[in-house]
Amino acid sequence: MSSEGVNSARRKFLTAATSAVGVAGAVGIAVPFVGSWNPSAKAKAAGAPVKADISKLEPGQMVVVEWRGKPVYVLHRTESQLESLAGLNDILKDPESENSVQPTYITGIDRAIRPEILVIEGLCTHLGCAPKFRPEVGAADLGGDDWLGGFFCPCHGSKFDLSGRVYAGVPASDNLVVPPHSFEGDNVLVIGVDSEAA
Ligand code: FES
Repeated sequence: MSSEGVNSARRKFLTAATSAVGVAGAVGIAVPFVGSWNPSAKAKAAGAPVKADISKLEPGQMVVVEWRGKPVYVLHRTESQLESLAGLNDILKDPESENSVQPTYITGIDRAIRPEILVIEGLCTHLGCAPKFRPEVGAADLGGDDWLGGFFCPCHGSKFDLSGRVYAGVPASDNLVVPPHSFEGDNVLVIGVDSEAA
């Protein structure tokens, strides 16, 4: 795609994605932006679903997929990351996602169809900045031993766990949004279409 064809929303998103790469790079983890199998740009802007090949997404890795001009984070969680979720319930605002925006088929603390694959919108529920992927357990700047990995919003300091659940005591009130999604076979994630939205 030529740079002339990039609209402002996409430019804004790419800026966020680029900064995410910068921070992640500091801890040795790449957060690539992956292209989807495009319908036309016009169809995408109108809300067409996008597909992403997740066959090469290794445990611990995250990629960013654009859907409706928004960044969608796709994280392949490790077993230990999944096991860490239950221990956080007491320090989260909405651990069971009772007040959160997510499809009805998303339940439980893993907030996923396949437990290992988390799909969330990369927009902070406070004022819409792009939270950064911070998987480093015990990160000193995020609470040390209390930090088990998750997402940190640099704008006003909101913190989310590895299911996108918001911590207590931060500006954001709601968990990160889970968009409608589904899978085609083992390797293809479809964002924007599911049994409810089809
Ligand atoms: S926009 Fe994320 S904390 Fe304010």
